[in-house]
Amino acid sequence: MSEQAIHKTPEIHHQFDVLIIGTGSAGLISALQLSEDMSVALISKDRVLEGSSYYAQGGISAVLDIDDNFDSHVQDTLITASGLGNEEATKFMVEGAPDAIKSLENSGVEFTKNNNTYHLTTEGGHSSRRVAHVADRTGKSIQTNLLDSVKTKNNIKIFEGFIAVDLLIKDSRCYGAYILNKNSNCVESFIAQKTIIATGGAAKTYLYTSNPDTSTGDGIAMAYRAGCNIVNMEFTQFHPTCLYHPHAKSFLISEALRGEGGKLILPNGDAFMHKYDDRAELAPRDIVARAIDSEMKSNGFDCVYLDISFEEKDWIKQHFPSIYKKCKSFGIDIADNPIPVVPAAHYTCGGIQSNLDGQTNIEDLYAVGEAAHTGVHGANRMASNSLLECIVFAKSCAKHINQSTLYTQQQGFNDWDESKVAPSKEKVVVSHLWDEIRRIMWNFVGIVRSNKRLNYAKYRLDQIQIEVNEYYKLYLISSDLIELRNLVKTAQIIVNSAIARTESRGLHYNEDYPNQSNTPKNTIIQKQ
Ligand code: FAD
Ligand code: SIN
Repeated sequence: MSEQAIHKTPEIHHQFDVLIIGTGSAGLISALQLSEDMSVALISKDRVLEGSSYYAQGGISAVLDIDDNFDSHVQDTLITASGLGNEEATKFMVEGAPDAIKSLENSGVEFTKNNNTYHLTTEGGHSSRRVAHVADRTGKSIQTNLLDSVKTKNNIKIFEGFIAVDLLIKDSRCYGAYILNKNSNCVESFIAQKTIIATGGAAKTYLYTSNPDTSTGDGIAMAYRAGCNIVNMEFTQFHPTCLYHPHAKSFLISEALRGEGGKLILPNGDAFMHKYDDRAELAPRDIVARAIDSEMKSNGFDCVYLDISFEEKDWIKQHFPSIYKKCKSFGIDIADNPIPVVPAAHYTCGGIQSNLDGQTNIEDLYAVGEAAHTGVHGANRMASNSLLECIVFAKSCAKHINQSTLYTQQQGFNDWDESKVAPSKEKVVVSHLWDEIRRIMWNFVGIVRSNKRLNYAKYRLDQIQIEVNEYYKLYLISSDLIELRNLVKTAQIIVNSAIARTESRGLHYNEDYPNQSNTPKNTIIQKQ
């Protein structure tokens, strides 16, 4: 939230074969898998490594154990998805998993092993140990290695500190995007034959989130404005265990801790998960997060606790070095004490409708990673299936582009026009609305919903949308304003999707419709 907008006339045009917006694992893998004779622009609104991918802890799921099998991984994913998982897409992802692991290893990722075999951990919903990981820093290892590989490619140009504003669309075809160069404050035109949205999720629409600041739903909002179908956005996943500490900014305590036997307990030391589900701590996340929410609300607790202190200190430090270190920095030695935890918004199960090749309903526009809705997560994502989805679908998207015919590039898009806007002296409006949206979402569109709370959220978000549109028309664009515009649009889509679902399923629990309908349906939102 620091952007200074300065009036300048932009006349910078770039031309690339492929424009990739986002440098998380979905964006980097897409770039690496594209044919080297294609010119590729790789855009990141922040530092290249900043994004959820870098912070991934638990790992990436894949059938790698001789006693495991594809069918079991598919069935676990579909059960967790609560009736809305797409079986074809799930099989495609699961069967692509061992190759995804190999691709990462080829880029230099060294998964944790014991005597040359993968150390596989487990998490909620998995019936076998199938989560490959690099201690508890899986994302950091994946991202740094992928970026090193990208840097060796002459056909890929990285634009750091460039934030996409809107897609260039004519006759239902995408020709690239307008992108604000945050260094010069000029909007530049990026013309491309194929555009891939890899902008991650929208958990920043909530006040408390495990996600970094980049997760403002930009790609989803841009795609909505462009005419894409946006599917199942009511299913925001709350991670059950984020560190409860005033300065921890919802630091994640990996589900792998529960996979390795960690117990959820109340302040008096009593375990409680067995009251909610036979799978106890390893039930899918929707169940665990709701159970914690219920215990906190009914007993007036600020948090519950996750206890791994029965393990040896050396074992904990070896398996969870980052978590150990981070908690220690806040004065909690997890080898001696249980960890105070609360749920926080973690993952966007819905997104831009895309097929097995990442294609959206707009010609030449693709979506991959958390921004996309491929159907594999349904109403609830199983742990460690997200990095897997990023990699498998980014690969198939790149393959599809490699096999397609490139055509003559479209000209004739106007430059970004700033002639009718002025510098703003009212930036406090932007920061105020940012905060208000995130509080509305946290208080009224959280783990347990009701018609009244959802309708209030809709009423106020619709007003905020009008205020943001007014502001957007009057003042020079800035990074904060672009994100605010996307935040309110994404929040509205989440609320409208939640209102449209008159049942409770997976991550969407509405106390006015506590039952699950017999006919599962996707919620599809499209701009009228
Ligand atoms: P991201 O990695 O979020 O990257 C998005 C990119 O888009 C960033 O580069 C960002 O700068 C860029 N961007 C966004 N908007 C714009 C714009 N307007 N213009 C330009 N650039 C833009 N999943 C697992 O499977 N296993 C795990 O162990 C795991 N652990 C997790 C731990 C944490 C703390 C978090 C937050 C998530 C975790 N997840 C895990 C989920 C998983 O990490 C993410 O779903 C996945 O990494 C998303 O990757 P992505 O490439 O789609 O998006
Ligand atoms: C975690 O390590 O708990 C996060 C895993 C995930 O989000 O898939």
